[in-house]
Amino acid sequence: MQHTPGITGLGYYLPERVLTNAELERMVDTTDEWIVARTGIRERRIAPPEEAFSDLGLRAANRALHDAGVDPSELDMIIVATDTPDMIFPNTASLIQRGLGAWRAACFDLLAACSGFIYGLSVASQYVRSGTHEKILVVGGSLLSRITDWQDRNTCVLFGDGAGAAVVGRVEAGFGLLSVILGADGRGATHLSLPAGGSRLPASHETVEQGMHYLHMNGREVFKFAVRVFEEAAEEAIVQAGISKEDIDLFVPHQANIRIIEAAAKRYALPKEKVMVNLDRYGNISAATIPVALQEAREAGRVTKGDHILMAAFGAGLTYAAAVLRWAL
Ligand code: ACO
Repeated sequence: MQHTPGITGLGYYLPERVLTNAELERMVDTTDEWIVARTGIRERRIAPPEEAFSDLGLRAANRALHDAGVDPSELDMIIVATDTPDMIFPNTASLIQRGLGAWRAACFDLLAACSGFIYGLSVASQYVRSGTHEKILVVGGSLLSRITDWQDRNTCVLFGDGAGAAVVGRVEAGFGLLSVILGADGRGATHLSLPAGGSRLPASHETVEQGMHYLHMNGREVFKFAVRVFEEAAEEAIVQAGISKEDIDLFVPHQANIRIIEAAAKRYALPKEKVMVNLDRYGNISAATIPVALQEAREAGRVTKGDHILMAAFGAGLTYAAAVLRWAL
């Protein structure tokens, strides 16, 4: 028998420390005007030095479990979508399992960068749909501040730290995840990468001297890819869900650049009140942007049962993903 998968609880955690554009003006050759005009970002959150991604993810996970009314002992699986794991191995999901005491849960990490939350949601949904697993925790997010070169104005103004989490379980038929589109274009792999520290270029004095342990990005190429896939993947997700653009109640896009979001909103003729934007406060927090924005929309009373929610993301890979949810809570 097939079951209907959907989100049954959400939570997020953002570090307290706020880093403003004014502070960045004192660190690199940039201005608040440039950052706001080119990206829409005004401030971002930065985790304290003693914390790793699992610390943020664990707090988000506890909040999502509380929201879902699920005890950690009920979890069948934990999937963590992050590009900044605590270590290359063990996986961060196992570290979060340890923190939760979710001893029954199978654990693995999934790397699809900023598209990771929708990828994770998709994987979890397949297990729930098939009936082999009932309650799955998906944690998405990043500590991008740890892999950012704070002397590189091209990248350091864009990113922040944060975590979001969702419990994926069974929902009423006709609700939940109506469609998912996943994709990638590996020809763009070098446009966004962390070159050293893996098996290609193990960490060495040379890699550190050359700054290869920092995120490297060709912003213009990523921008072009993002605008294209936001439109194409979202369109496909809407068609696959069997709805039309007019049925979308809320668009929750990956929060990377306000110009990318506005281009997609224009294409779908979505008025401002149907588009969730919080990148002005958090910047790009990778796979956390969508769960954080979705939960903030709920907290603001912008989501009610039956709403059609369109989500879309892009990230390193280059990967992309889009999905339509019919809100079940
Ligand atoms: N302050 C002032 N000037 C700057 C800054 C800055 N912070 N950063 C770049 N500039 C300069 C550049 O040096 C360039 O100067 P030049 O013309 O003299 O060379 C000029 O501004 C314009 O640079 P562009 O790259 O053309 O600026 P653009 O309008 O494309 O904006 C940006 C750059 C914001 C990076 C944009 O391309 C973008 O948002 N790209 C997508 C990035 C993204 O979403 N990445 C996702 C990563 S997610 C993940 O998977 C981790």
